[in-house]
Amino acid sequence: MTDLCFHRGRRLRRTPAIRAMVRETALSANDLIMPYFVADTPDPSLRQPIPSMPGQFQLSPAELEKEVGSAVAAGLRSVLLFGIPAEKDPLGHGAYDDNGIVQRAVRMLKKNWPDLVVVTDLCLCEYTSHGHCGIIAEGDRTGHVLNDPTLELLARTAVSQAKAGADIIAPSDMMDGRVLALRRALDREGFEETPIMSYAVKYASAYYGPFRDAADSAPHFGDRRTYQMDPGNVQEALREMQADIDEGADLFIVKPAGPYQDVLRLMHDSFDVPLVAYQVSGEYSLICAAAQNGWIDRRAIVMESLTGIKRSGAGMIITYFAAEALREGWIR
Ligand code: PBG
Ligand code: ZN
Repeated sequence: MTDLCFHRGRRLRRTPAIRAMVRETALSANDLIMPYFVADTPDPSLRQPIPSMPGQFQLSPAELEKEVGSAVAAGLRSVLLFGIPAEKDPLGHGAYDDNGIVQRAVRMLKKNWPDLVVVTDLCLCEYTSHGHCGIIAEGDRTGHVLNDPTLELLARTAVSQAKAGADIIAPSDMMDGRVLALRRALDREGFEETPIMSYAVKYASAYYGPFRDAADSAPHFGDRRTYQMDPGNVQEALREMQADIDEGADLFIVKPAGPYQDVLRLMHDSFDVPLVAYQVSGEYSLICAAAQNGWIDRRAIVMESLTGIKRSGAGMIITYFAAEALREGWIR
């Protein structure tokens, strides 16, 4: 065939080296943020497997230290911390206790690895006895979170995390005005240079199911649909992003990632901001379950799912596969 009237796309797919040269999307260790669950427990060797998230654990601070140590040796550069307090109460006191579990874990990590980027998730649902992400009026059983009173507790938590040494504060509660409230409180306390990684576009998703087992944070009544976004909406995502930009956030999370890649693409094309995608617990669990059954190739699916998320516009990815991908050398 010698006439030149059709496109020969296969020329650039001939060899692995040529394919690598023309590849448009590559993953690197700099893109990855690994979540960890650290528990306030009397057992210093706690390493409690999370049944719905095979390979993930609730860790004592000492076990977290070991786990992060080996991941850092494999190239991990950033972690996202979730705390599981010893006790919960209606106002989630453990979240803003200067000696709380996350605060202690941050101090430990920063002492060991000053260069590690330690991001702290900021929410009350792991700390409240009712499992909601903010304050519930006494006697309310509908799960309606009181917005403005909650902002004060979130601001206290942010300052407490920053004091402990957190590099980045990541509010995941979806209250209105929380980025502004956090920014003001942080600035007032001298943390003008602590960035806020806002969960700007966070859907009310069933994909968080396994996480709520992991963090024991499922709401005891009602659900999160009065504060997290409706899965059918995308115009609303533009408004949520704009609000968080206006309030002064520095980095912007879209969550979940895979099922919302259209949203990621639109946010990337609409706003000139650092975008973070969160491949959440349910996305992780689905891949693990199918891989354990031998129905899919774990490594290939992990790489393809992460590549798709990055190709959709994410600059960074929070993923429970981060440590594994680095240890196994899938990503460098
Ligand atoms: C806390 C929080 C949740 C997740 C991150 N921060 C749970 C929720 O909103 O119910 C989900 C993470 C995951 O599923 O991996 N608000
Ligand atoms: Zn929450």
